[in-house]
Amino acid sequence: MTLRHFIHIQDFNQAELLELIALTRLIKEADRQGVTPKLLQDASLGMIFEEPSTRTRISFEVAMTELGGHALYLKPGEIHLGERESLSDTAQVLSRMVDVVMIRALKHETVTGFAAAATVPVINGLTDYNHPTQVVCDVFTMMEHAPAGKSLQDLRVTFVGDATNVLSSLMFICTKMGMHFTHAAPVKYQPPVRWRHIAEENCRTSGGTLTITEDPVAAVREADFIYTDLWWWVGQEDEIPDRRVAFMPTYQVNGELFGRAPAHCKFMHCLPASRGVEATDEVMDSPRSIIFDQSENRLHAEKGILTWLVYPRLQRPTPELRAYHAGRIQSFLDARS
Ligand code: CP
Repeated sequence: MTLRHFIHIQDFNQAELLELIALTRLIKEADRQGVTPKLLQDASLGMIFEEPSTRTRISFEVAMTELGGHALYLKPGEIHLGERESLSDTAQVLSRMVDVVMIRALKHETVTGFAAAATVPVINGLTDYNHPTQVVCDVFTMMEHAPAGKSLQDLRVTFVGDATNVLSSLMFICTKMGMHFTHAAPVKYQPPVRWRHIAEENCRTSGGTLTITEDPVAAVREADFIYTDLWWWVGQEDEIPDRRVAFMPTYQVNGELFGRAPAHCKFMHCLPASRGVEATDEVMDSPRSIIFDQSENRLHAEKGILTWLVYPRLQRPTPELRAYHAGRIQSFLDARS
């Protein structure tokens, strides 16, 4: 069957993403009743992390366990990734031993280069460009928390803050889904033209809209969801003073800015957060904050993504075939003793 990777939201059409979200919902409903089906029985996931992670690591590992499979945590220094062994060779070796690989990489090219040589599905667990697994979870979470009577295509999502890897994927998935996406940030921290072109092309097909503005108050006025992310990340330490001046206080999601949004508006953050920087405790801990529903939904969404990619590829032998081979091997061993 055709090998599919999960590297970029743009690799999927709207119908496929909706199917993935519908699968995630079914799996979450099963999980709520304690009956997650063992759809990935005996399957293995290799997880490569070049950066730390809480949610991504734990959600993928627990997802594999609950689906009947197994996950291996592989960090640089413990495997020969790009040092002493080429990326391509590592990808081909892992492909012979595991059923799926998830990579969190410093550079997006590491994930695409690995996938080019792999013969099993490769999942992007965050790069310097994007974070597609996060935003599948986010749209699923928005559907769960949508205001009564609003369809997905009615939803208005406002991202306030830096044009991060999460922003890029969120902008792509919302515009692909036909939603109304607004980004509020100082001009210097708005998305590059090539990202906007992708999102604008999505809107032409889906009927969604894209607005990029410097005005956070106007941006939140009709928002159903306000989303923010860190203002700086690993490798941007030298930029912290400039970034703090550019964003604070205008782009901080605090009580005053949240108060400019409709009363039903929910607050979202992919986490980890710098509390008191991009968002205040007052907002993060408010009854309208859904940040921990988001975190929990990473687990359900990873189960959906893993199942969607891997289940169709697994061989499911009959009990008779299992018994035949077990019998042959046992006879061989018994003959020796
Ligand atoms: N949101 C997210 O990807 O969290 P981690 O960095 O903890 O995986």
